[in-house]
Amino acid sequence: MESTRKNRPELPEPAERVLSRIERANVPRHVALIMDGNGRWARKRWLPRSAGHRAGVEVLTPVLEAAGRAGVRSLTLYAFSTENWTRPEDEVSGLMSLFIEKAKTKVPELHERGARLRFVGRTDRLPERIRTSAREAEEMTAANQDLDVYIALNYGGRSELVDATRRMMSAGIDPSEVDEETFASYLYAPEASEMDLVIRTSGELRVSNFLLWQIAYAEFYITETLWPDFSAEEFLTAIESYASRSRRRGGV
Ligand code: IPE
Ligand code: IPE
Ligand code: MG
Repeated sequence: MESTRKNRPELPEPAERVLSRIERANVPRHVALIMDGNGRWARKRWLPRSAGHRAGVEVLTPVLEAAGRAGVRSLTLYAFSTENWTRPEDEVSGLMSLFIEKAKTKVPELHERGARLRFVGRTDRLPERIRTSAREAEEMTAANQDLDVYIALNYGGRSELVDATRRMMSAGIDPSEVDEETFASYLYAPEASEMDLVIRTSGELRVSNFLLWQIAYAEFYITETLWPDFSAEEFLTAIESYASRSRRRGGV
């Protein structure tokens, strides 16, 4: 589908080269990103962790551009987990302030690029100013169709399963009616297609309570690169890696 975006910036030359090699028919529809390593990036530079988070936000623009150019339909970004509240209070409040500050420039930018934003997680337990900002972002971008961007905020895979079960039970669903399809329809974003590829930066070999249901048959791409050093080129390298794999899904 031709993009409706007005000013489509070029990707850096190395990213364009990777893009030209990718077999379009094999591009993942839905990519999840565990954006990890901001703190280590800052520590390497003798900077406060907040500087790492700030630098991390800037990577979103080239990555979203690369996703759109490659033909990825949906992205889910892990921004703040249900466990991240255990961090020092000043880091948590700094992150919340950063979300509000960056939403002011990034949301109109995403809107311009035709992205539809949705927030997933226990968003009702976020501070009021974040909820308002999230609601405004969803309203502004609701009609966009180029790319679906899900922001996981106060998100936990286990909480999502618990919340889905609660809502299903409140709706009075009979146990005999519960199958995988019914269950999936009570998740935070039931309209989203299943996860095809999960990218984790900073080298940790774990899921950290992300998308436990949706990653059942996802492929993984794990890189040592710290999130603030991640790039359009490396995102496309992950897509290229995915495109060359054989997803057998239990078959032969
Ligand atoms: C990821 O970077 C950002 C969030 C969890 C919000 P970290 O802050 O976890 O960075 P490291 O893992 O300590 O390097
Ligand atoms: C995962 O990173 C959460 C986000 C990227 C938001 P963490 O840094 O919180 O995960 P752990 O602590 O390494 O498992
Ligand atoms: Mg981390």
